Amino acid sequence: MPTEQKTDTVFSKELENFIAEWKEKPGNLIMILHKVQSEFGYISRGAAMKVAEMLDIPLAKIYGVITFYHFFKLNKPGKNVIQVCMGTACYLKGGQAILDETAKHLNIPVKGVTEDGMFSLESVRCVGCCGLAPVVVIGDEVFGKVLPEQMPEILANFSE
Ligand code: FES
Repeated sequence: MPTEQKTDTVFSKELENFIAEWKEKPGNLIMILHKVQSEFGYISRGAAMKVAEMLDIPLAKIYGVITFYHFFKLNKPGKNVIQVCMGTACYLKGGQAILDETAKHLNIPVKGVTEDGMFSLESVRCVGCCGLAPVVVIGDEVFGKVLPEQMPEILANFSE
């Protein structure tokens, strides 16, 4: 088993205490899954199994929640998370073409991660700067009025 998967099932003391504290409270599953994702950046199968065991609930119930809410990630995100805004303003100004160009350039689907782990690609709702539409966010950098053909150059700055 890869080391990565192993470490994703080793919960910090803080996380274990949090789960113990929330174990009997209503709405606990969402709170706990948020906490797991904030610790690892995503929810691995191993982590989901561990939560199921700790809460004594079926694994299917956990996957029901993780797959229902778009916020939860099942795969480890890339080092640089590319968020292409598909909110109304960005969509109308060509968000889809940016998303398609980025997916083609990186050879990954939306929600995919490049083989080298450098990039992951997400389609997101309005990121709050519609005046700059269409918008792409990479890490904590915001790119406005982006043209699809600019994406390879923008991404090249994150490749080291
Ligand atoms: S719709 Fe893209 S920033 Fe608002």
